[in-house]
Amino acid sequence: MARITAGVASSHVPALGVASDFDKTEEAYWKPAFAGYEWTREWEKEQKPDVVILVYNDHASAFDMKIIPTFAIGCSEEYKPADEGWGPRQVPVVKGHPDLAWHIAQSCILDEFDMTIINEMDVDHGLTVPLTMMFGKVPEWPCRVVPVAVNVVTYPPPSGNRCWALGEAIARAVESFPEDLNVQIWGTGGMSHQLQGPRAGLINKEWDNRFLDRLEGDTQELRYIPHIEYLRETGSEGIEMVMWLIMRGALNDKVKQAHRFYHVPASNTAVGHLILENA
Ligand SMILES: [Fe+2]
Repeated sequence: MARITAGVASSHVPALGVASDFDKTEEAYWKPAFAGYEWTREWEKEQKPDVVILVYNDHASAFDMKIIPTFAIGCSEEYKPADEGWGPRQVPVVKGHPDLAWHIAQSCILDEFDMTIINEMDVDHGLTVPLTMMFGKVPEWPCRVVPVAVNVVTYPPPSGNRCWALGEAIARAVESFPEDLNVQIWGTGGMSHQLQGPRAGLINKEWDNRFLDRLEGDTQELRYIPHIEYLRETGSEGIEMVMWLIMRGALNDKVKQAHRFYHVPASNTAVGHLILENA
């Protein structure tokens, strides 16, 4: 049977993708951010996941104000890197796993989570930057990907509790898939950042680190953090962290922290990264 072995959380700062694409990762400014993922790249080589369920948000690349799915699942054979205004990133095409994706879609919808099914979609930095951080610069991504896109761009995003419950439903779906697959679930986005307005550049190290602490420990409290707290404490884009709760909800109650990293700054964003293994 398919099984979720680990959860990975990571910021998906677009500038990290640019630094990798243009070979700037050894520059003094970027080096510390990439150093925090070196352990992970070795770990991923050992783990060899067959599939990553990659929870991310689209930034007006595949979706815009014409269509705003709260939760969407990619069921396609492949996903091309999106053109976000300066040409697509020169990274491999992302290969999907349609059988598992359709199975998750069916299982979640019958489990009363009304996913939007997407059969054609380009994927932006929200999805490709985490792949770069975890696998480096590679000719082919070493695993299949099931994209799960969450609306955190246009109000109202889903609640943390709803995200958590979706994670639980995704875990039930994976457990009932008959193929023997090593599956990881990744939650991306965050941590504290605000890109516009008078508070642009806001970083809240203390809040971010407490969030990281609680992902391993006192998890239930995280489900009920209201949107307004993310907004006040972590800036207008900090709400992306609800996507980490889908990852956490899909894991067992008991997890083991395998790796943790926090770094400021990367452009004007706090970079957070956590690996939790199912105990
Ligand atoms: Fe984002």
